Amino acid sequence: MDPKQQSILIVDDESQVRGVIGAIVNMEGYLYSMAEDAETALEILAVQEVDLLISDINMKGMTGMELLRLVLNRYPDIAVIMVTGIDDRETAIETLHMGAYGYVTKPFQANELIINIANALRRRQLEIENRRHRENLESLVEERTRELHKSRDESIHILSKAAEFRDNETAKHTIRMGHYTERLAFLSGLPEALCQNLKHAAPLHDVGKIGISDSILLKPGKLTVEEFEAMKAHCEIGYRILAESTSDVLSLGAEIALTHHEKFAGNGYPRGLAGENIPISGRIAAICDVFDALTSERVYKKAIPPEEALIIMNEGRGTHFDPRLYDLFVDHFPTFVQIRTKFAD
Ligand SMILES: [Fe+2]
Ligand SMILES: [Fe+2]
Repeated sequence: MDPKQQSILIVDDESQVRGVIGAIVNMEGYLYSMAEDAETALEILAVQEVDLLISDINMKGMTGMELLRLVLNRYPDIAVIMVTGIDDRETAIETLHMGAYGYVTKPFQANELIINIANALRRRQLEIENRRHRENLESLVEERTRELHKSRDESIHILSKAAEFRDNETAKHTIRMGHYTERLAFLSGLPEALCQNLKHAAPLHDVGKIGISDSILLKPGKLTVEEFEAMKAHCEIGYRILAESTSDVLSLGAEIALTHHEKFAGNGYPRGLAGENIPISGRIAAICDVFDALTSERVYKKAIPPEEALIIMNEGRGTHFDPRLYDLFVDHFPTFVQIRTKFAD
């Protein structure tokens, strides 16, 4: 924009002062309008684009200070210069603290006013550009963060799919695990961001099955004691695959991989952790994993209806499952059945 095409609003209750200022800015080629009091100035501002306000401080009715406060509030992009009497220095300085860009003391030289105007308009321009730049940067960062999350989610999904290829369990099992876990985490009062991370981490719980041999993984019948011992290694393997990551989600995935077969009473595997020594992510995943396993069909068993699964799971309250989490699960059982139905195999 041609700087001289910028428009100035002059507010002063003395017509003579308005005239002088008007003549100066006119000579400099600025567009301008005038108001004899603050009320009129506000009316003009409501309908007209103004870049710079030049306002007297001492006016009948609303003072220049009050006008300044209102204008900065309503129109943060307007630059303001105050015009003050000789004994008003203190007030003038106060207006600078309030956000005015400058002041001139009456009587003033034309030059003094011109320099003040040019400075104020220049500074206003810089501040507007600065803000725009900042807003651009912020939206750029947001966009990049979204892309990053998307590619992270994709990688995690691919990783859990790789594990499923080795397993009897279906792709839907890992998806459901994500949703159940997020839901139960939310019900247990965990912060929203953590719940979201858990949703992406839980599908990785069995990623360690990549390291278990086919003869065990795909065996249709019951496992022998030795085979079951070998199968247990999937927790440590999953943990080792994921633990070195610096990503929040993958670290949570590592924690869940390691602890989703621990039992509240301490007789689970691989570490035999008990009670709250089992991370809450693992305690939540344990409930969700058992529920989904019971209600899913496998080569070696039929699916059990949710209500029957619940009867079986009740036995594990306080022994297999954290009783507080389990009660939340039972209290909101229909939500979990809904997820089960929504992402059916
Ligand atoms: Fe597992
Ligand atoms: Fe599972």
